[in-house]
Amino acid sequence: MLGMRKGKVDALLGIVFGDEGKGKIVDYFTPKYDIVARFAGGPNAGHTIMFGGRKFVLRSIPSGILGEAGLNIIGNGCVIAPDLFMAEAKELEDAGYDVRGRLHISKRAHLILPTHRVLDRAYEQAKGKRRVGTTGKGIGPTYSDKASRTGLRMGDALVGFQEKYARLKARHEQILRDLHYTDYDIAEEERQWMKGLEYMLSLDITDTEIEINKALREGKNVLAEGAQGTMLDIDHGTYPYVSSSSTVCGGVCTGLGVAPSSIGEVFGIFKAYSTRVGSGPFPVELTDETGDLIRKTGSEYGAVTGRNRRCGWIDLVALKYAIMVNGVTQLVMMKSDVLDSFETIKACVAYEKDGVRTEDMPFDTEGWHAVYKDIPGWLTDLSRATSEGELPAAFEAYISFLEKELETPITIISVGPDRAQTIVR
Ligand code: IMP
Repeated sequence: MLGMRKGKVDALLGIVFGDEGKGKIVDYFTPKYDIVARFAGGPNAGHTIMFGGRKFVLRSIPSGILGEAGLNIIGNGCVIAPDLFMAEAKELEDAGYDVRGRLHISKRAHLILPTHRVLDRAYEQAKGKRRVGTTGKGIGPTYSDKASRTGLRMGDALVGFQEKYARLKARHEQILRDLHYTDYDIAEEERQWMKGLEYMLSLDITDTEIEINKALREGKNVLAEGAQGTMLDIDHGTYPYVSSSSTVCGGVCTGLGVAPSSIGEVFGIFKAYSTRVGSGPFPVELTDETGDLIRKTGSEYGAVTGRNRRCGWIDLVALKYAIMVNGVTQLVMMKSDVLDSFETIKACVAYEKDGVRTEDMPFDTEGWHAVYKDIPGWLTDLSRATSEGELPAAFEAYISFLEKELETPITIISVGPDRAQTIVR
């Protein structure tokens, strides 16, 4: 495994549909970094982390808060819901973690208003069958306001906020009336939201892009903690079935205010199989008992919504595309042990539609079927392996096959949920 470089921003990115298990790996990485920063997304993410024998689901707060990272940053590319943020922060404080002293929030991060969440529901309802299956956290409407130049930023809360808030809320209410979506009551939610905002204002709201660049000049290293995955990226994902932020490596630069030349390692994290939450094309989806077995063995249920995750075989078309778009330098493979009981496993090596075959990610991923290559399973309990030497030959062959196809080294292999079940090569 290549070392983490001082004075650089390393990116840890989900490179498929999110839920790759970044939480476990971030926990493994964070002691090595001075700063851990989130650059995109908001409470639609749910990074499940086991720490000190306790389970935490972090949504907006960087995972470094649980480790030793001196500073954690919520960057300008993120969107924040103050009520949910406060609940998350208080849970951490109750468990003894110092949030106040170790978290800075960008003045430029956008605020998710209660009415953004109502709009999320209203837009989804209006889309009917073509709904995205969002997490309902108001992500799309908030990024829409950002792009429309009507949004409210964290820094706006520092002066004359109530008037700005009332103006944006009135605008949202007008849209909701136009959509005939009027059956909602956000009075209590709004009270909690204002309390949350007050709490946030007692924390450090700063120019995080200046702080990060200063730290880099001082030779400190930064881990940019991704959220969601490349296939949910607003530009490069399976549009329109995507989230609304830049989840790719380019999003690290815009979402933190750092130059492309400051990017060091790009760790691309993926699972030994595929999952997807929400609607949209998924050529490798298994709607049979094999899919059910993967879901059950891998506990593939949404961390934020509790929904069943759709499951399928590994998709090399998507992975190759994501490696290209992100400039992935090292791969991290999660949940290898979930496939222990399969005599044969499959890897999607191409897509096919109407007699046309492609190995490149098509513009419109709808209607394509997966073309598979069969690979002998290892039929061994991987979860006991603690070093590379203990891995069965058939699994080693699978890793070599993936590395050859993906032209990128797999430097970390996870074989179970525990920190100790992590093999570094
Ligand atoms: P939104 O981000 O709530 O707008 O949802 C857009 C799409 O991204 C939906 O298909 C969600 O299920 C999916 N999505 C959003 N966040 C995550 C995540 O953290 N993991 C996996 N899927 C996500």
